[in-house]
Amino acid sequence: MCGIVGYAGRRKAAPLIVDGLRRLEYRGYDSFGVATVGPHVEVYKRCGRIPASLPESRAMKGSLGIGHTRWATHGAPSDTNAHPHTDCTGRIAVVHNGIIENYASLRKRLGRKGHTFRSETDTEVIAHLIEEEYDGDLLGAVEGAVKSLEGSYAILAVAEGDRRIVAARCASPLVLGLGDGETLAASDLTPLLEYTERVIFAEDGDIIAITPQGAEIRNNGEAVERPVELVNWCADDVKKGGFEHFMLKEIYEQPRVFYETARTADPAPLLDLLRETPALTIVACGTSYHAGLIGMYLLEEFAEIPVRVELASEFRYAVPPVRNPVLAITQSGETADTLWALRAAKARNCPTVALTNVMGSTVTRLADAAIFTRAGPEVGVAATKSFIAQLAVFLALADRLGQGRLAASLGNAHLAIGDLLREDVGEAVALLRGARSIFYVGRGPFYPVALEGALKMKEISYIHAEGYAAGELKHGPFALLTPETPVVALCFPGPAYRVMISNIKEMKARGAPVLGIGVPGDRELGEVVDLFLPVPGDDPVVQVLTSSVLVQLLAYHTAKSLETDIDRPRNLAKSVTVE
Ligand code: F6R
Repeated sequence: MCGIVGYAGRRKAAPLIVDGLRRLEYRGYDSFGVATVGPHVEVYKRCGRIPASLPESRAMKGSLGIGHTRWATHGAPSDTNAHPHTDCTGRIAVVHNGIIENYASLRKRLGRKGHTFRSETDTEVIAHLIEEEYDGDLLGAVEGAVKSLEGSYAILAVAEGDRRIVAARCASPLVLGLGDGETLAASDLTPLLEYTERVIFAEDGDIIAITPQGAEIRNNGEAVERPVELVNWCADDVKKGGFEHFMLKEIYEQPRVFYETARTADPAPLLDLLRETPALTIVACGTSYHAGLIGMYLLEEFAEIPVRVELASEFRYAVPPVRNPVLAITQSGETADTLWALRAAKARNCPTVALTNVMGSTVTRLADAAIFTRAGPEVGVAATKSFIAQLAVFLALADRLGQGRLAASLGNAHLAIGDLLREDVGEAVALLRGARSIFYVGRGPFYPVALEGALKMKEISYIHAEGYAAGELKHGPFALLTPETPVVALCFPGPAYRVMISNIKEMKARGAPVLGIGVPGDRELGEVVDLFLPVPGDDPVVQVLTSSVLVQLLAYHTAKSLETDIDRPRNLAKSVTVE
């Protein structure tokens, strides 16, 4: 999704902004651009990825500027459609993250007034609206211009002769970084970490004048103060630190992430609500949805709290008649579907809680309360450590509600995850990398692990993969089983063990090679499958965690052997801010 960066300070703005845009690359983009204000407004923008070296940015003058990575919505990816966009005179430049819903009618209106449009984007209307309002005061012009806008936006605007960046926010993230004689603005924290730990999260309706000395914020025509918060992420968190990919680095961070989140995340807001009303509805998308499904098993088994888990994208349009607390799980805190589901829950007067990794994110503003995971910034598009952190919160919650029954798992899981990371998956990758299609199957809490394993595999290796409840395979998918369709079967001691073993035999009888994941020393499983991968863990809860990490490693190493773009898989964005 689009990313924005602004800088006002004493250094040369353009190279610093380009560096900030690189930190936002993980969000997904198809073009990029920068505008600086020196004697004049200079703009450089291109379709495609930011090259490793960009001499054009070093040639741009000025210590004040704005930049953008674009994820095309209105108009194809092209040099012209890339941001920044300028007004008719080229003296005002704008970058924008969000969608202007009434841009077509604004464009007509401005066209009738003689404005010339160059791009097909919704954003360009903002530059022309500011031009209409501009009488030498950029702040007043932006304040006037946004009154005409419908939709979502985080905007940064600059104008020739003005030593300020003027920002505006409505329903799109915008965070300000307060440095020493320099101030930054960005769509998330990652470009700021190198320069400061002091940040301000802008609110809807804020119009902000950004100078090297700081930020002055107005809302509804009045000056307002926003709290300065200290970020506990550091610049090294968004560097690869010797790993080939962010995804691998983030997989290896999981023992620490689990340990820290299990000990420090405070589930109190949800704990109190569930003690009062013991029923929960969870809304989430993708990997966060899978964490919600595992959370359901934990809360139902250990705390006897009935839980329903809904895909956020479905919930909004068919809101069930719930009155109980609603938990929105979202790593980024910005997923549009999850935010809409949360709004729908609020409209039903349900108490709401967010489980997120990002302080200041939109979900934290929307929900009545927030629980934070301690995963640190997750840069790889495929969610890994944020998933394990979400599970750590569920374990802590189920433990508190279940009179300490999960204490041993909570205490040991990080060690088991650490052991798992030493597993050699070479033979398994050889089995999977040539497949046309892979099925992942499991029962009980291992069913969401199967869903997650398949999601990881398809998104980064581009091999078609499906997660199934093991018992469902014979209700249709059996027709697809061939020697080219391997099955990854999660088979652990417990009530479903015997039936899993028979399921695996049935799959093998249809010619599918089976990769079994189970506990060390399980000879019976070892004998029925083609390849056996044991995972550490003394109890089913820890086995859920270690097998989740194993399926991440299978996806990572398969994708690596196929040489795909692991950290930035095609067509995907890290935070999906459109419905
Ligand atoms: C998959 C993945 C996505 C996200 C989904 C929700 O690896 O990362 O499926 O889990 O887009 O994102 P958040 O958790 O930010 O709401």
